[in-house]
Amino acid sequence: MVDLLLGLQWGDEGKGKIVDVLTKEYDIIARFQGGPNAGHTLEFDGIKHVLHTIPSGIFHKNAINIVGNGVVIDPVIFKKELDNLGKFNIDFVSKLLISRKAHLILPTHRLLDAASEASKGKAKIGSTLKGIGPTYMDKTGRNGMRVGDLEFDDWKTKYRALADKHEAMIDFYDVEIEYNLAELEAEFCVGVEALKKLTFIDSEEYIFKAQAEGKKILAEGAQGSLLDIDFGTYPYVTSSNTTAAGACTGLGVAPNKIERVLGIFKAYTTRVGSGPFPTELFDEDGATMGRVGNEFGATTGRPRRCGWLDLVALKYAVQINGVTELMMMKADVLSGFKTIKVCTAYDYKGEKIQHLPYNIESEYVTPVYTEMKGWAKDLTKLTKSDELPPALNDYISFLEEQLQVPIKIVSVGPDRLQTIHR
Ligand code: GDP
Ligand code: IMO
Ligand code: MG
Repeated sequence: MVDLLLGLQWGDEGKGKIVDVLTKEYDIIARFQGGPNAGHTLEFDGIKHVLHTIPSGIFHKNAINIVGNGVVIDPVIFKKELDNLGKFNIDFVSKLLISRKAHLILPTHRLLDAASEASKGKAKIGSTLKGIGPTYMDKTGRNGMRVGDLEFDDWKTKYRALADKHEAMIDFYDVEIEYNLAELEAEFCVGVEALKKLTFIDSEEYIFKAQAEGKKILAEGAQGSLLDIDFGTYPYVTSSNTTAAGACTGLGVAPNKIERVLGIFKAYTTRVGSGPFPTELFDEDGATMGRVGNEFGATTGRPRRCGWLDLVALKYAVQINGVTELMMMKADVLSGFKTIKVCTAYDYKGEKIQHLPYNIESEYVTPVYTEMKGWAKDLTKLTKSDELPPALNDYISFLEEQLQVPIKIVSVGPDRLQTIHR
């Protein structure tokens, strides 16, 4: 039995926190796509942890954590993550397994990312510059290096050929990028050695057997549906399928084995990087969301753009993913707003529409809002759903009615314990 947990917006919905909360119900947590562009934050016992590649179930004793074939791994960042876990005495050697088919991010992939962004000027994607795009390009172009290659003696030959090709490509971009490849490669090799201390597996086979044994598996997504390479706000997206189908290809899970699809969204919307964002606020309300929600990227530290909840986009994400239950995060951040606005339609080239059109740039789309009463109550100490203020209950009921999916969790703070089940 496999459940999926996915972000429904532009990422940073709070996936890390909820995976950590739910891990006790599962035997296996498996990441299925993305790479160190992700930053998944979890908090417990007063300590905040940020994971980039490693699944968010790693802090629990019993769960096995798998980095699936759909993930791209940068050994340098991976080693840093392992070193951090080591500080907390987490026994990652026995419970962290890596798919042989996961692709490797080379130092030159990162440089290519930087060169590509620099060459785009104002039209840049706002990439996290972790080499994600170039690595997936090599994967689909059938040139990539995979974790399994590291088990063969000739991996450095393969590495050299690919890195040399990348260097020529960097020159092609004709932009100023300063780097010392020898240093980057030395760091890469240290990372590879750290990675090789872990167990490499044929993860699809492992997951197949686990299912046959009746194990419960939670597939952890990265990014969000609106950053999906096919269904997101292209080209301002990431380079993987962040939606439910990505779990099938990123882990080898058959579609008919997926049971629950848990969709996570913030009570408002954020986006980091470039690209259209119809409900973005440039006023005091947006600044308040950013300040109270501490909206800074967990990977890059960049301020996140903030705005009201976009139900048109959320409904689209619910449909694409077949979401069976919803989790609303950061409800606490909206406490104190007199009025809460929800975008329920777009004015698209003069016509009122309720689906996501091909282009949602602000020159075409103006959000149409429904206004609701806000609440003043501080939610951060609440533990039970019957303590939620009536105006928040109205907000939740309105969203459930619009989306036709129940909201099962309301999150009221970053800590594991600040989680209300309904
Ligand atoms: P992810 O990428 O989806 O795992 O989300 P991030 O970790 O990038 O961003 C979510 C941020 O919100 C983190 O700093 C979390 O600690 C924090 N967070 C999660 N849930 C809540 C919540 O309910 N309330 C508040 N105030 N913060 C939250
Ligand atoms: P988590 O898993 C938010 C954004 C970047 C940029 C675009 C492409 O923490 O939710 P990339 O580095 O993939 O080439 O960047 O996607 N982006 C994210 N935004 N959360 C993430 O991950 C993101 N991963 C990538 O800001 O706009
Ligand atoms: Mg994040």
